[in-house]
Amino acid sequence: MPLKAAGTAAHLAEQFTQVRALTCALAEPLSEADAQVQSMPDASPVKWHLAHTTWFFETLLLERFEAGFRAHHPAYRMLFNSYYNAVGAQHARPQRGLITRPGLAEIQAWRRAVDRRVHDWLSSHPPEPALALLTLGLNHEQQHQELILSDLKHLLGCNPLAPAYRARPAHAGKAADVPALGWVSHDGGPVDIGHAGAGFAFDNEAPRHRHWLAPHALADRLVTQGEFAGFIADGGYGDPRWWLSAGWDWVRTQQASAPMYWQREPQGGWSAFTLHGLQPLQADAPAVHLNLYEADAYARWAGAQSGMPLRLPTEAEWEHGVERSGAAARVQTMGLCADTLESLHPQADLARRGSAGHGKGPLHQAFGQVWQWTASAYAAYPGYRPWAGAVGEYNGKFMVNQYVLRGSSFATPRGHARLSYRNFFPADARWQFTGLRLACDLR
Ligand SMILES: [Fe+2]
Repeated sequence: MPLKAAGTAAHLAEQFTQVRALTCALAEPLSEADAQVQSMPDASPVKWHLAHTTWFFETLLLERFEAGFRAHHPAYRMLFNSYYNAVGAQHARPQRGLITRPGLAEIQAWRRAVDRRVHDWLSSHPPEPALALLTLGLNHEQQHQELILSDLKHLLGCNPLAPAYRARPAHAGKAADVPALGWVSHDGGPVDIGHAGAGFAFDNEAPRHRHWLAPHALADRLVTQGEFAGFIADGGYGDPRWWLSAGWDWVRTQQASAPMYWQREPQGGWSAFTLHGLQPLQADAPAVHLNLYEADAYARWAGAQSGMPLRLPTEAEWEHGVERSGAAARVQTMGLCADTLESLHPQADLARRGSAGHGKGPLHQAFGQVWQWTASAYAAYPGYRPWAGAVGEYNGKFMVNQYVLRGSSFATPRGHARLSYRNFFPADARWQFTGLRLACDLR
């Protein structure tokens, strides 16, 4: 699937302004120190995200298409290259936090300079392949906007003072009666998944192709924190029956006993660190910060409790189920934007308060709360072709030792998610906004 522009130069110029502004808004409450520190090798400093997203436009777009191109600073080409071997050398990922200079103000000045140059260049009637790269740059920056929040949460979560990134909104934490889990069943048979329509998609979402589904059902909502607390209370983290072998090794090595950011309160119950600081655990909100091992173990345990063959859905089951239920219709109106920066945690499904949960409705919470682990290994679709050039390294070379997540989270920027989107992380990763939806075999 060739890389395509998602609109005219004028339309993309408007989008460019909005996307770049949201990144700056995310960094706005941070001190230089907040933006500098790298809390673990997998997480990057916010300053690095600000720089690297700018690097993308300067190195992959302007360097190739801007008349009379001159780099803002020649060293930035290497310093803020993430993993593009076709571009050249890279600064080591675990040492991104050691780049104390250039400082935050210099990086912000670089951002503003590149913003001006991109706008000037956009008014010079750029060719379609260049607009296609700009489209990719916008989607790339949106991915980093979510990473800014997950990486920053990890950093602030390392601080015993549990500092809030932003104040908690007054409406947050409202209790909802979570409906009983309902099931949306499918008789099985051939289905088509993957991107085939108009509009932007990453190369890993294509080509559209056929899968054979076995009879199954998908849970009509996400697993809640309260339900996951039941797994812990039943000794779930201490019982190898529920865990994959590598998962059990992970539990013992890490001495894991609860999802990331959960804290047991001395008087009983749980609290959880959030981007709004330490908060009482909201039992009816979706469980979040689970890795694949935890999600899979929960499904196995919940199956034993209910007498049903529960498991994680495959990505084909998820995509077809969400498409069939019409749950993707509202995806473009959901997610992170300048208006939602005060509400940065998964929420209980207030719209469904008191709903009977009889299982005949659509799939709720498919988008905008937490990414949902699937049982599908992240691999190429049949006939997959990476994009040409350096951006061929964007997705294809990571198709090993990772699992696919579907949907989107509250931190996924508005307009970025779609039905065919394939997020991916290693099985032990849990600092992203990841949870689960159950599936069940029907035979
Ligand atoms: Fe990147």
